[in-house]
Amino acid sequence: MRLALLGCGTVGQEVVRLLHEQSADLAARIGAPLEIAGIAVRRLGRDRGDLPVAEDLFTTDALGLIKRDDVDVVVEVVGGIEPARSWLVEALRAGKSVVTANKALLAEDGVALHEAAAEGGGDLYYEASVAGAIPLLRPLRESLHGDRINRVTGIVNGTTNFILSAMDATGAGFAEALDEATALGYAEADPTADVHREGITEVTAADMASAQAMGCTINLLCIAARGVDPTGRETVSVRVHPAMIPRSHPLASVGDAFNAVFVEADAAGQLMFYGRGAGGAPTASAVLGDVVAVSRNRLAGVRAASESAYADLAVRPMGEALTRYHVSLDVADRPGVLASVASVFARHDVSIATVRQGSAGGPAGRDGDAELVIVTHVAPDAALAATVGELRGLDIVRSVTSVLRVEGDA
Ligand SMILES: NC(=O)c1ccc[n+]([C@@H]2O[C@H](COP(=O)([O-])OP(=O)(O)OC[C@H]3O[C@@H](n4cnc5c(N)ncnc54)[C@H](OP(=O)(O)O)[C@@H]3O)[C@@H](O)[C@H]2O)c1
Repeated sequence: MRLALLGCGTVGQEVVRLLHEQSADLAARIGAPLEIAGIAVRRLGRDRGDLPVAEDLFTTDALGLIKRDDVDVVVEVVGGIEPARSWLVEALRAGKSVVTANKALLAEDGVALHEAAAEGGGDLYYEASVAGAIPLLRPLRESLHGDRINRVTGIVNGTTNFILSAMDATGAGFAEALDEATALGYAEADPTADVHREGITEVTAADMASAQAMGCTINLLCIAARGVDPTGRETVSVRVHPAMIPRSHPLASVGDAFNAVFVEADAAGQLMFYGRGAGGAPTASAVLGDVVAVSRNRLAGVRAASESAYADLAVRPMGEALTRYHVSLDVADRPGVLASVASVFARHDVSIATVRQGSAGGPAGRDGDAELVIVTHVAPDAALAATVGELRGLDIVRSVTSVLRVEGDA
């Protein structure tokens, strides 16, 4: 089995090392030896440490390598959309099997890659593109195939989780925790590449203290949840945002740079997959697992069953996403304020679960102010946004100091 490796950086170098160190085991598992036919990189002269491969395997001509007749499997660990997309489409159409760790490309154009794989008859595997070393795609696609999955909630960004864990443990603010993550090499040079959309930049030390007072942590969650929209149509709500979760929830124990994915299925109940979601060696482990699988398929003359899209659920608009909310307000400390605030929630049909009152401690706090912390029952996102908008316009509300979603059973 001959393999073309595209990219030899953090992940690619570990793939080379593991292929070398475990060559006998891998050959036994596959039923044939696994050899590197060539390695495509951008800069031939770059120092790659003491890699156990011959120098003449390196090339800058990725396309030429892919097209070679003696290449069976193409492993892509370059990253980015182009030229990776063109290379992989070319490889798949030519009937090669492809293993990739490229989450950006899968998210952007996974359908085109699947079509090219179907056309060429090879396999397309990408376990490493989701949560690094943690086996997730195959358990969902194969092991849980007899069950109905209702909800998947993940902590899949080690950098943001490290920052939030540091804020939780030390009371630090976001900027201070980001500095620590950068110093330890966790954060990318441009941290916005890791922290985007509804990221964690707005999470304050005061939010963290408030979460602690409620027996919660704050994590950046990605959520895919089945549901039924107001017309009775089945939909899926897909979103990424920071949220409070009770400390008793299994995801709350996922600290530092670890990742976890919590799956809720009809019959299996709750399952949690936990481990290292990034890093050269963990990601290379997932890449090699896929390499063994596609190699075995090729030797057996079969390809894996293609993705099933039978459910074809519409994505629910964010405004209809249902969750609970934690809202902190600095308000004037005088009679009737609580009733006025409660009436705004009622007007938008957002039901209040608990109210806590303290003295205003946030930056906007001043004498004569009080802090109100309101936790709601489940409500649509749009209703909560309208509630907060109206609260901001009240003269008794000095400021809305934070709005955080609350996930997981209390
Ligand atoms: N690092 C992780 O922890 C991790 C975890 C999960 C998934 N991934 C995914 O794995 C992939 C690789 O990540 P990485 O961290 O290993 O990246 P990396 O360290 O930046 O390595 C990228 C490699 O691709 C090569 N390359 C870039 N542009 C090229 C071009 N135009 N032609 C030929 N070669 C080119 C580079 O060549 P030079 O060496 O000559 O510069 C380098 O060897 C990405 O899709 C990433 O999202 C990474």
